[in-house]
Amino acid sequence: MGLEPFTPDSTIFQDENVLRDGYQPDTLIERDEELKAYQSALRPVVNGAQPKNLFLYGQTGVGKTLATRMVLERLKSDLKPMSNVELETIFLNCKSLTSSYQVSAHLVNKFRSPDDQIKTTGYPSGMINQMLWSAITELDTTHCLIVLDEVDSIGNDDDILYQVPRSNDNGHVEETQVGVIGISNDFTFRDNLSARVKDSLCDEEILFSPYNANELRRILEQRADSAFRDGVLDDGVIELTAAFAGQSSGSARQALRRLYKAGDLARDEESGTVTEDHIRAADEAVERDKVHEELVSVPAQSKLTLFALLILEAEDELPAKRSAIYGRYQMAARKIGADVRTDRTVHDRLSQLTLKGFLDVEEKNKGPKGGSYYQYEFSIRPDLVEEALREDSRMNGLFE
Ligand SMILES: Nc1ncnc2c1ncn2[C@@H]1O[C@H](COP(=O)(O)OP(=O)(O)OP(=O)(O)O)[C@@H](O)[C@H]1O
Ligand SMILES: [Mg+2]
Repeated sequence: MGLEPFTPDSTIFQDENVLRDGYQPDTLIERDEELKAYQSALRPVVNGAQPKNLFLYGQTGVGKTLATRMVLERLKSDLKPMSNVELETIFLNCKSLTSSYQVSAHLVNKFRSPDDQIKTTGYPSGMINQMLWSAITELDTTHCLIVLDEVDSIGNDDDILYQVPRSNDNGHVEETQVGVIGISNDFTFRDNLSARVKDSLCDEEILFSPYNANELRRILEQRADSAFRDGVLDDGVIELTAAFAGQSSGSARQALRRLYKAGDLARDEESGTVTEDHIRAADEAVERDKVHEELVSVPAQSKLTLFALLILEAEDELPAKRSAIYGRYQMAARKIGADVRTDRTVHDRLSQLTLKGFLDVEEKNKGPKGGSYYQYEFSIRPDLVEEALREDSRMNGLFE
C-alpha cells in the first residue's frame, strides 16, 4: 500500500490547536490563591514603588509559566492609562543556560536589537554584568521586570540571582526599578539556593501545587469545549483522563496531552467518537513518552549508572548492590573516556534515579552480624532505558 491522500478531517476536532502546549487560554482556572499572591507581590509597581522579587516553584505542568504570562500581560495593560509608571518586561527561558554568565549574556541580548547582539562567550564576567546594568539603566521606563523561567538549569552557579534582584540596592542600576521573577520546577534547586540568593530573590515565594483530579477535570473541560466537535467525547472520557493524569503527576500539561492523543487515536481509526478505550491507550502512550523524555535528559553520570544496571540486567544479576553497580559503572565510564567519579557520586545518582521513579531500592539485612545494605533494580522496562541511552551520541559507544 502506498501513501494515502491527506484529506482534512472534521469529525473529531473543531480546533486541535487549543490542546497544544503553546496555546494560551483566556483564564487560568483553579489558581485563585496563587494569582492573588502573585498580583500582590507586583502591586508596588502600580504605585511607582520597587517591585518585590519573586520565586515561583512547583512541579512541571502546573501553570507557573502560564500564570506569569497572564499576570504580566494584565499588569501591562492596567498600567497603560497611568502616565507616571512605565514597565518593560523581559522574559528569558534559561533551559539551555548552565551558568550565571550565560544568563547575563542572554539578558543583555534581550535588551539589544537583533542587529546589535553580543557574543555570548568570551567576555570577562564583570564586563557582562556591566553591559547588563547599562542596558537596564538606558531603558526609558520607570520599571523593569525580568522573568527567569526554568532557572534551575544554572545549578549552583546562582550569582545572577543575587546580582539582578539587588541591582538597585547595590547601586548598579539607579533610574530603573528592577524586579526579578525566578521560576523553577526543581525542588532541590530551591533548597540549595545560596543564603544570599534566598535573601534577595525570595522576597515572596509562591508554591504551585500539583492539580488533583477535580481541578484537572475543570481545566480539560475548558479546553475540550473549543477543541472538539459537539458530542464527540463519550461520557466519562474527561473524568477518566483527569483521573489518570491526577494519579500520574497532577500536571495539566500531561492531562492535555492525554486528551489530545486520545483524539488523535480516534481520528486515525476514523472513529466518530473518543471513547474510554482511546483514553486508556493514550495514557499508556503519554506515560511512555514522558519516561523517555525524562531519561533522555538525565545527566551523563546518571546515564553511565543506568548503563551499569543494564549490564547487570543482561547478566541476570539484578537486583544488585551498590558495589556491583559501581564496578560496572567504572568500566562503562572508561570505555567512553568519561570522568570516573567516586563511589559517592554513583550513590547520589542512584538516589536521584530512584527519586525520579526509574529504579526501585530495597533494604536488606546482613543477617546475624547486623547492619544492612541496599539493592537496586529497574522499576521501568530496561528496553526503554536502552532506547534513551542509544539516542545520546556519547553513550552510543557503550553498546559497541
Ligand atoms: N490552571 C490552568 N488552567 C488552564 N490551563 C492550564 C492551567 N495550568 C496549566 N495549564 C496548561 O498546562 C500546560 C502547562 O502549564 P505551564 O507551561 O504553565 O506549566 P509550568 O508550571 O510552567 O511547567 P514547567 O515547570 O514544566 O515549565 C500549558 O499548556 C497550560 O496552558
Ligand atoms: Mg514553565
